[in-house]
Amino acid sequence: MQHYILGIESSCDDTSAAVIRDDVILSNVIASQDVHKIYGGVVPELASRAHQQNIIPVIDTAIRKANIEKKELSAVAFTRGPGLLGSLLVGTSFAKAFSLGLNIPLIEVDHLHAHILCHFIRNETRTNVVPSFPFLCLTVSGGHTQFVLVRSHTQMEIIGETLDDAAGEAFDKSAKIMGLPYPGGPVIDKLAQSGDPDRFPFARPSIPGLDFSFSGLKTSVLYFIRDELRKDPYFIEHNVNDLCASIQAAIVGILMSKLSLAAAEVKQRLGTDRLPDIAIAGGVSANSGLRKALEEARDRRGWNIFIPPLAYSTDNAAMIAVAGYFKFLKGDFVSQEVAPYARSLRDT
Ligand code: KG4
Ligand code: ZN
Repeated sequence: MQHYILGIESSCDDTSAAVIRDDVILSNVIASQDVHKIYGGVVPELASRAHQQNIIPVIDTAIRKANIEKKELSAVAFTRGPGLLGSLLVGTSFAKAFSLGLNIPLIEVDHLHAHILCHFIRNETRTNVVPSFPFLCLTVSGGHTQFVLVRSHTQMEIIGETLDDAAGEAFDKSAKIMGLPYPGGPVIDKLAQSGDPDRFPFARPSIPGLDFSFSGLKTSVLYFIRDELRKDPYFIEHNVNDLCASIQAAIVGILMSKLSLAAAEVKQRLGTDRLPDIAIAGGVSANSGLRKALEEARDRRGWNIFIPPLAYSTDNAAMIAVAGYFKFLKGDFVSQEVAPYARSLRDT
């Protein structure tokens, strides 16, 4: 029997709804909020107001695009956290009401688990290849940077993470220092395309083990630019492409060197003689420099890599729907008492 599941994502500044039939994607609608651009970052109160305005049309469109009736839905899955509490409350309240109104199960989804599970979203012909368990995922988003040992659709263990800023924050904060718009990641990515990545060697921290640190890089960008602006007030304008390319190279370099370590560590832990499959997920997995570096590792070092399609890299509800589907199969439902959480729950 086929099951239709509605997924709802409202953890930050994108209101999204998606419908899947089992693990096959039928629709994935995203309303982004431009209102934050002029503030150089997400303003939580404005985000929750925009979610309130967007959520009904977005869900309505997702159901219509999937070409189903809402009474055909088997369950509703929603992002419970982590994220902005006011934003999460909009999606959570809507999902609860929807589940109550249609008398269908309610499924809570962890946003970070969902980023990883985006690799299991199937296309209509179910021809896309998915990672094999256990595999290693580097989750790189605006709020998190983690190595996760993924043992099954529901069992995930964090084996390394950032001690301060997330990789996405390193992009966003560096962009802000250069006066570039929010979110800075895609802007830096674009400007880096025609820049020299070796022009400015920014600090790369030496943190032991599988943890990361990005705050030193941000400080080194800040002081370097401040000093150069004293000599040339147009330093940023004159060098923006090289600055972006060099910052991106530093972030990607940090991620890739740790990824080699993490892959070796997972191989040792699992006691196998081949490297695990290696996946990336989260907004920064959209970065063209990171994607290229992984493709090089595949070609030169034989890594079996999984890079999500762009639509599933940044926040989207398709990943929430597919994560919900795996919980649906286990009968893992929640009651109307469920409340969102702003901060990460520890490993599950
Ligand atoms: O996963 P996501 O959409 O939201 C969170 O869960 O945080 O990630 C957003 C982050 C932002 O920091 C944004 O600048 C970054 O992903 N990002 C990128 C790119 N696209 C989005 N960073 C670098 N290059 C990109 N192309
Ligand atoms: Zn995210």
